[in-house]
Amino acid sequence: MSIAIICSGGDCAGMNPAIKRFVEYSKSKGLEAYLIYNGIEGLIDNNIKEAHYSDVSGIISKGGTIIGSSRSKRFYEAQYRQQAFKNLQNLKIKILIVLGGDGSFRAMQRLHDEYGVRWFGIPATIDNDIALTQYCLGVDTALNVIRHAIDSVRDTASSFKRGFVIETMGRECGYLALVSALSSGAEFCLIPEVEYNLDSIKKRLKGELYSGREYVVGVVSEALDSQEIIKWIERDLGIEARLTTLGHIQRGGNPTVFDRLMAFEWVTFTIDAIMEGKSNYVAIYRDGTFALEAIESVSNSHYKISDVLLENARRLFQ
Ligand code: F6P
Repeated sequence: MSIAIICSGGDCAGMNPAIKRFVEYSKSKGLEAYLIYNGIEGLIDNNIKEAHYSDVSGIISKGGTIIGSSRSKRFYEAQYRQQAFKNLQNLKIKILIVLGGDGSFRAMQRLHDEYGVRWFGIPATIDNDIALTQYCLGVDTALNVIRHAIDSVRDTASSFKRGFVIETMGRECGYLALVSALSSGAEFCLIPEVEYNLDSIKKRLKGELYSGREYVVGVVSEALDSQEIIKWIERDLGIEARLTTLGHIQRGGNPTVFDRLMAFEWVTFTIDAIMEGKSNYVAIYRDGTFALEAIESVSNSHYKISDVLLENARRLFQ
């Protein structure tokens, strides 16, 4: 049987270790492994090649994805979905493993509904915003990149006695900002999930500044207006402020040990499920173990940051 792997949407660290494990483990199970280059755009353009061990040697330490990724507008047109299906059919590829977010999983489900294409999803996005899984591949590496950046900003903030806002990615999900703020000792954190109170944050920080604090570091999600927070620091806290928007730096970097190990285990679990004849599931990670969830359940639920994390961070919102 032939199976393929594809990356779709925003790339993240951990994709390369997953691709390596995919090729090596599927071959060991007697499957023919294919790589789809350039995401769904490549699927439409028939940019699909049989995988060899040499394709994946030396890639475990690399960030991003050696097979590329894309966000495809053409996929929303019926003729291109048909083209994608025909390409898979010609190569007799029976199942696709998709590394990406829930939008990519829904796209695969559409190919399934229209043409019977079988697929498995492995959550892979730095946003950590997919429902029913407690972890998405790439998040640990992104958090370490952010942690390193905030540690560096703190050095200059303390030397110059300034206020700093670090803007993190994550779309509408504040997970990256929240965990980064907690693990870097930030003075405040603003995320879309939590109603924050700038007046009480001001009162707290003014008190700290009065008692000797010389600088302030805050972490703000990209969904909020960081520029406004800079103005607020200068106007209401009375110290000079700068904005550091981390941007796409957060998507890069060498995968951490945790992401390499998770990639290994996630792909192993998924290929084992394929060997058992299963398909059309998202492989999720919950309470230290992997499980299968239907795409409908994932799509109909909403990712929620854990109450424990929110409680631990409560002081940063007030
Ligand atoms: O989904 C990952 C992500 O990095 C988001 O955090 C961010 O909002 C978005 O992708 C950026 O997308 P692009 O790379 O298309 O600018």
